[in-house]
Amino acid sequence: MNEKSFTLSGLNIVKTYETNVKALDDVTISIPDGEITVIMGPSGSGKTTLLNILALLDTPDSGKVLLDGKDTSKFDEKERARIRNEMFGFVFQFFHLIPELTVEENVIVPLMIRNPFISLCAYREKARKLLDEFHIGNKASSYPNKLSGGERQRVAICRSLIGEPKIIFADEPTGNLDKIAALELVDLIKTLNKEKKKTFVIATHNENFLKITTNIIYLSGGKIVNRE
Ligand SMILES: Nc1ncnc2c1ncn2[C@@H]1O[C@H](COP(=O)(O)OP(=O)(O)OP(=O)(O)O)[C@@H](O)[C@H]1O
Ligand SMILES: [Mg+2]
Repeated sequence: MNEKSFTLSGLNIVKTYETNVKALDDVTISIPDGEITVIMGPSGSGKTTLLNILALLDTPDSGKVLLDGKDTSKFDEKERARIRNEMFGFVFQFFHLIPELTVEENVIVPLMIRNPFISLCAYREKARKLLDEFHIGNKASSYPNKLSGGERQRVAICRSLIGEPKIIFADEPTGNLDKIAALELVDLIKTLNKEKKKTFVIATHNENFLKITTNIIYLSGGKIVNRE
């Protein structure tokens, strides 16, 4: 089990928006397997842009994202979507749960996308197990608008895990939670990393994440900087 299950790195990434804002300016970063990588920096420093490029949601203007040694710029959108679905999990600040689906159905969505022809029952059981594990099994049939912020984010964590991804990308996952729910989420991520060896890449302002990892990248003005 010591074998690496993936390698992911960004080399000399540059991204400029039409407004001439250099969101990323020659960023080189490697994501360690089995660890929590935290990306910090002031608002506008390029955290989300970097996360989206590493997660193959966006493309750089120049530089490369290498996944398992392959240059991902060579992949077409279909291949990129397949990789996102099979290798990555996603957690967002505003949860992005589908309001018309129950909690359980929301958790199943990544598997439905992966294989729409398999019986829903098999997926439901898997979703239930995850929801139970995160103490929200009793909410499986509820709709997201009946849940607290902390509960919604735990549902989003279940959804990010159901496809057994190699990397979970989280953009400001505590940004919409109160202090206690935020601390609980930090703790949950720590446990998932320690006990299940899950790899996380987290863009955040929340300093509590600094307590659960030493792998911290600081961005400022689109560049990686050392923080005193
Ligand atoms: N779609 C876009 N079009 C134009 N400019 C953009 C776009 N997305 C981001 N930017 C700009 O790129 C820079 C980096 O933005 P980014 O969202 O990556 O920052 P961030 O560090 O995630 O900030 P925050 O902490 O507020 O989420 C900012 O100056 C932002 O205004
Ligand atoms: Mg952001």
